[in-house]
Amino acid sequence: MSNYHIKHLEEYYQVYRKSVREPENFWEEVAEEHFMWQKKWDNVLSWDFSKPEVKWFEGAKLNITENCIDRHLATRGDKTAIIFEPNNPDDPSEHITYNQLHERVNKFANVLKAEGIKKGDRVCIYLPMIPELAISVLACARIGAIHSVVFAGFSATALSTRINDSDCKMVITSDGSYRGEKSIDLKGIVDDALEDCPSVKTVLVAKRIHSNIDMKAGRDKWLQPLLDNASAVCKAEIMDAEDPLFILYTSGSTGKPKGMVHTIAGYMVYTAYTFKNVFQYRDGDIYWCTADIGWITGHSYIVYGPLANGATTVMFEGVPHYPDFGRFWKVIEKHKVTQFYTAPTAIRALAKQGTELVDTYNLSSLKVLGSVGEPINEEAWHWYNDNIGKKNSPIVDTWWQTETGGIMISPIPFVTPTKPTYATLPFPGIQPALMDETGKELKGNQVEGRLCIKFPWPSMARTIWGDHERYRETYFSAFENKYFTGDGALRDEVGYYRITGRVDDVIIVSGHNLGTAPIEDAINEHPAVAESAIVGFPHDIKGYALYGFVILKDTGESRVHDNLRKEINQIIAEHIGPIAKLDKIQFTSGLPKTRSGKIMRRILRKIACKDISNLGDTSTLLNPEVVQEIIDNALE
Ligand code: WTA
Repeated sequence: MSNYHIKHLEEYYQVYRKSVREPENFWEEVAEEHFMWQKKWDNVLSWDFSKPEVKWFEGAKLNITENCIDRHLATRGDKTAIIFEPNNPDDPSEHITYNQLHERVNKFANVLKAEGIKKGDRVCIYLPMIPELAISVLACARIGAIHSVVFAGFSATALSTRINDSDCKMVITSDGSYRGEKSIDLKGIVDDALEDCPSVKTVLVAKRIHSNIDMKAGRDKWLQPLLDNASAVCKAEIMDAEDPLFILYTSGSTGKPKGMVHTIAGYMVYTAYTFKNVFQYRDGDIYWCTADIGWITGHSYIVYGPLANGATTVMFEGVPHYPDFGRFWKVIEKHKVTQFYTAPTAIRALAKQGTELVDTYNLSSLKVLGSVGEPINEEAWHWYNDNIGKKNSPIVDTWWQTETGGIMISPIPFVTPTKPTYATLPFPGIQPALMDETGKELKGNQVEGRLCIKFPWPSMARTIWGDHERYRETYFSAFENKYFTGDGALRDEVGYYRITGRVDDVIIVSGHNLGTAPIEDAINEHPAVAESAIVGFPHDIKGYALYGFVILKDTGESRVHDNLRKEINQIIAEHIGPIAKLDKIQFTSGLPKTRSGKIMRRILRKIACKDISNLGDTSTLLNPEVVQEIIDNALE
């Protein structure tokens, strides 16, 4: 029996039990059956969460691009690997076959080599959702370079921080990008970022918007002429299982972003295996994930997972509301999409528009719907189920993280009965634990606590680039011998999991993780600001939005508040990106603090959420009087 494609609930439980009883045999079977290895492993797993050190398939040799491309050529060379759907619906979409993808990745890989990129070098990719993004990711993997994709909505400061953190030698970008009606000067952002990035020797520039940009002599090169002259043959570099594949930055609750490092073999096995099962992908299906490749969802479930399965994956350059709110449905109809994977924030924004537009499109190709990035509320779940799935397409509410590499808790469609707002059951190989605050595991059902994972899985991040101690401290120190996710969860009477949200200082806004500290640091750069604190409050569409409490240096200045609000958001946009802008900014004379000087965010959170009935004991605060002032001036 192959455990690769689970078909009914009983089989799920069987497979799951086996994965817990004999994890090594279980993963060995998956790895044996479905991938192309240059050499098989000597050891399936070694691990020690106290260090932490985790190694999967040690001793194996492979190249992930041979698994994602080369091995499909004999049987499906002319099958479409990537459908590129451009921002403007009047422009033609592009179908890239596996043969063509092979050629384009090889050429790109040869360009990287010719520009001096070698195995182990870091390459920063700052591109919009155009084919070059997927191709450059794969080209890096082909030659063993480590890609670090930075979402092209991040600002110059955020980009340079990420480039410098991992000493990238090269940046791959484009002249600009389209976003609905707007175009964005990406190259200008790169130029600003690179004023401060000594490690970068070369910038490769793809043409997208044909704008007039400055090309810095000796550093910047147009990509296309280099590709035109490159050979279409590039032998895949033979890599070790545990060599790094990529770095992807995610916000932490404190300090600079964390460069999560994923390694090749385990990541490949797990993303391929979960893709196949979570989306019940069959040959001929057209799969579409609306994420950006700048996030982990795009890495694992636009590029690697689908391609490792020889699937057809859609890359969408545009936005859900351009040219109107029917765009997603139009794309589904046009390409006869069978699996559609998006975020609750998009569902809520589209639901707000009603069903008039939805009903003008034929969505009958759909078989499975997915949700990712934040908890999906009941209303959005039903809207998605009723109007998009027509109650015929199961919704997979997939819980996972940048750190986990792949989907951890999710229904398997047509196998696991779904339940609104529940991510349901752990994937085979995943052993969740709910912990109470004293560090005790809560056994049995109908319990709620902090979500941990107590056994390694193949695609877990191995470290934080350049800071292993921070990796240990962040994820393995809160609960002994367990990976701590930072999320809270409950387990219902049948063992289904529901994720209740973050329990740390990360706020998820429109599905993007935002740490409070970096935003506060940005605000505090404003010359008029003395101190600030950010909390989240519920928002109809974004899930959560940001509420800032700001102490000004000179509170006498009343004239400037609205201007100051704009300036503060401008600084945030420059330091992090527009996604981190605050919805509400309240100026205050003080912030509630403990006697040791720590801001009591719990109180601020409650005030921002208009939940002031139970603020707890505030008398032990250093400055209890400030609480009433903040309540009195709280913003609507
Ligand atoms: C949240 C995205 C509830 C969670 C793949 C997690 C979710 C964080 C879900 C990771 C879900 C993601 N239900 N919450 N289905 N999926 N989250 O690193 O708080 O961008 O810790 O990875 O998003 O976000 P990240």
